[in-house]
Amino acid sequence: MAKVIVLMGAPGAGKGTQAQLISRRFGWPQISTGDILREMAEQDTPLGRHIKGVLASGRLVSDEILADIIQERTQRDDCRGGYILDGFPRTIHQAELLDRLVRERGHELVVINIAVARQALVARLAARRICPRCGAVYNMHSRPPREDELCDRCGTPLRRRADDHPDAIQKRLEVYQKETAPVIEYYRQQKKVAEIDGGRSMDEVFEDLVRVIEEKNGR
Ligand code: AP5
Ligand code: MG
Repeated sequence: MAKVIVLMGAPGAGKGTQAQLISRRFGWPQISTGDILREMAEQDTPLGRHIKGVLASGRLVSDEILADIIQERTQRDDCRGGYILDGFPRTIHQAELLDRLVRERGHELVVINIAVARQALVARLAARRICPRCGAVYNMHSRPPREDELCDRCGTPLRRRADDHPDAIQKRLEVYQKETAPVIEYYRQQKKVAEIDGGRSMDEVFEDLVRVIEEKNGR
């Protein structure tokens, strides 16, 4: 049965970093709702401007907008053999929508929670840099670029994300506790969650993820 890998975890837990690695290893597409929304926010339209404002504030974009995005993206051909969700679902409402999509399409959910202590999250987000051109993710401490603030892959000057400033980081962590932590509980009650200690090195976290996915895939 095709798998839908759901990476749960607070802002800065490493969802994007690990989703890219899993995608490369297993060949499934990475669907990052944050990346999709950041792209939409570049458009100079009422919707684009609305999303841009919400992202910079650290709040969640509405369930209605997310429902349109996720339904459209997951029905594309590349999702037939499975896909990786990074940043979705973030509310109970979104989790219920995902349950319905997965059931209708005969997929199976594999939910993995990447747990990291709050202090480490804040430090990671403050030191994160991203490549605006190819999407590569860096960290000035744990994964610095080879050349000062330039992307290793394409040489583009790296940037901070608009929501990686202290106020938005605090807001995102708050919203996570209030809206998204209950989603993990929702899956825990269904005994669907594999827990991973995300406070270790990227390679160690990745090894654990591969083990969990291969175990589920073997069934
Ligand atoms: P989104 O883009 O999903 O942001 P987030 O959840 O805040 O998570 P991040 O992307 O900040 O962290 P990450 O876990 O991906 O960590 P990363 O791998 O980059 O969402 C952004 C916004 O979009 C939301 O605030 C909301 O407004 C909106 N949105 C998105 N989805 C939505 C939804 N479903 N509903 C409503 N609104 C939605 O790693 C972080 C840093 O740490 C990097 O620098 C990385 O290099 C480093 N790092 C990673 N792993 C390690 C490690 N093991 N050790 C040391 N450093 C590490
Ligand atoms: Mg991310």
